[in-house]
Amino acid sequence: MAISVHNLLKERRYPFIAFLFLLILFVAFFILTTNNSQPPPLYHIRQPSSHPSVTKIIPTTPLPEIVSNRTEIGTNRDSDDGDSGEGEGLVYEWKLCPGPLAVDYIPCLDNWKAIKSLKSRRHMEHRERYCPKPNPRCLIPLPDGYKVPVAWPKSRDMIWFDNVPHLKLVEYKKEQNWVKRSGDYLLFPGGGTQFKEGVNHYIQYIEKNLPKIGWGKRTRVILDVGCGVASFGGYLLDKNVITMSFAPKDEHEAQIQFALERGIPATLSVIATQKLTFPDNAFDLIHCARCRVHWDGYGGKPLLELNRILRPGGVFIWSATPVYRDDERDKKVWEAMVALTKSICWKVVAKSFDSSGIGLVIYEKPISSSCYKSRKESNPPLCDENLRPNTSWYTPLDGCISTIPVANTWPTPWPQRLKSKPLSLSTDPDAELAFYEDTKHWSELVTNVYIGGLGVNWSSVRNVMDMNAGYGGFAAALSDLPVWVMNIVSVNGPNTLPIIFDRGLIGIYHDWCESLNTYPRTYDLLHSSFLFGNLTSRCDMLDIAVEMDRVLRPGGVVIVEDSTGMLKKLKHILRSLHWSTNLHQQRFLVGRKSFWRPEKKR
Ligand SMILES: C[S@@+](CC[C@H](N)C(=O)[O-])C[C@H]1O[C@@H](n2cnc3c(N)ncnc32)[C@H](O)[C@@H]1O
Repeated sequence: MAISVHNLLKERRYPFIAFLFLLILFVAFFILTTNNSQPPPLYHIRQPSSHPSVTKIIPTTPLPEIVSNRTEIGTNRDSDDGDSGEGEGLVYEWKLCPGPLAVDYIPCLDNWKAIKSLKSRRHMEHRERYCPKPNPRCLIPLPDGYKVPVAWPKSRDMIWFDNVPHLKLVEYKKEQNWVKRSGDYLLFPGGGTQFKEGVNHYIQYIEKNLPKIGWGKRTRVILDVGCGVASFGGYLLDKNVITMSFAPKDEHEAQIQFALERGIPATLSVIATQKLTFPDNAFDLIHCARCRVHWDGYGGKPLLELNRILRPGGVFIWSATPVYRDDERDKKVWEAMVALTKSICWKVVAKSFDSSGIGLVIYEKPISSSCYKSRKESNPPLCDENLRPNTSWYTPLDGCISTIPVANTWPTPWPQRLKSKPLSLSTDPDAELAFYEDTKHWSELVTNVYIGGLGVNWSSVRNVMDMNAGYGGFAAALSDLPVWVMNIVSVNGPNTLPIIFDRGLIGIYHDWCESLNTYPRTYDLLHSSFLFGNLTSRCDMLDIAVEMDRVLRPGGVVIVEDSTGMLKKLKHILRSLHWSTNLHQQRFLVGRKSFWRPEKKR
């Protein structure tokens, strides 16, 4: 029986008509909203097997709800702005790095799979960098009982045991007074293998032997090879000398971690088969006190590497047993060292023994290449400068002598050196102007904005890293504060690191697409000025943020100046890590890391 609308109207069955109308509407709506011809799933879930520790979920519509163990976007919403940006709407699920050693994890040095497959360890290859691919995206757990570190300058002498709970050196170097345990603290009495009468006595003894060293005036930037817990560099700070202390992650358990927890500049590195990540002619002085490097081994390449990074006219201080003991083995090493240093034109300018029987020899590097040319034999040969890359990044050690720049002079004494025209600045007339402009720019920005305007409590800042240092202007502008700055120069950008050293500051080359050679929780403040633009064409901002989270202490701060898009993207990731963030003038992002860590899996 056909039911016509006309009949229905005639029979006045209005409720039925209304029901039919609603039914048609509902069916039409249902068909429209479930049309699958274009597949718009609620989320594209990208979980590359290569990055198992963080799930990046990309919703195509706003998230209806947040699943319990994911981090909610905007839970940390701060007062700056409410607008959405690139990356807004992504949800990250963070996990802790697994295993009992995760608290101290350094991805490129703890890559045991790569280390185990090495063919040789003879030249300390196992202490060099092997970065896992892709970068791990897990977060570093906190050691039990971790506290805000002891503040500088007290930290030079004492740190919380719970923050670096390692006792091997307390036991192993007991006689040498490196480090002691006292209740909740580790104490550093200024001892060392070569500092029998304390490190201050040793520092004075060096200057007595060679007064022209002029600590803190002529000699400003030095390298301490095999530094132990870095007491040498720590005490030289009193004399306005800045020391790049370095040692590998080896059986001297946590030595560099102790140094950084103490607030003393230090980095993990090793003299092995590759060049150190410093420029040519950088250091005024290099020091090795029983640093266990076989300078004459490997065809003398380790000493040629020191020669490369030592400033012409700079000195190498070697206080090691072959200098003052004469058993057969030491005698042989000494003889080899005599031949080698002579072949590279180093001159002995002092040799002596102190009251405790410890001896040292001081060599000076020539100030011009003339001696190299007058050698009977060109062995080692001079390097072909056209074949040498201008940065040292995964570059094998040279077996040649790097030539000395013509018209080389010593930098102006410290502190004038900081703002004088750097020796390695280009001779282009515009370069000098650009350098002074840069110095002025940073001085004004730091004074007017960074110090008072960003809400940073500078009194709790000691270890600072400038992630994209340029000429080192940021570090120079901080020089009156009790902080030190590790200046990082990108291996893919302009090579400004020689200028940084010329100014009397320290730094290293690095590629932020990889993890840095430092322990977790070693910096109080990270600064990044327009780093991300170039970088994010090669790697993911997420990896850089994970690395920032690893390196920064809880309570630590990042200050990022970048494009609005980059800032928004980064802010979003930092919030997912439970950092608080503030945007100033739409130009500076200030992020503060909290003590939050993801739940441990049971
Ligand atoms: C005996 S300790 C001396 C520490 C300190 N110089 C002192 O006098 O107290 C030896 C140091 O050399 C470092 N070392 C060993 N081999 C090294 C290498 N190939 N490159 C750099 N440092 C090395 C060790 O890690 C350790 O810090």
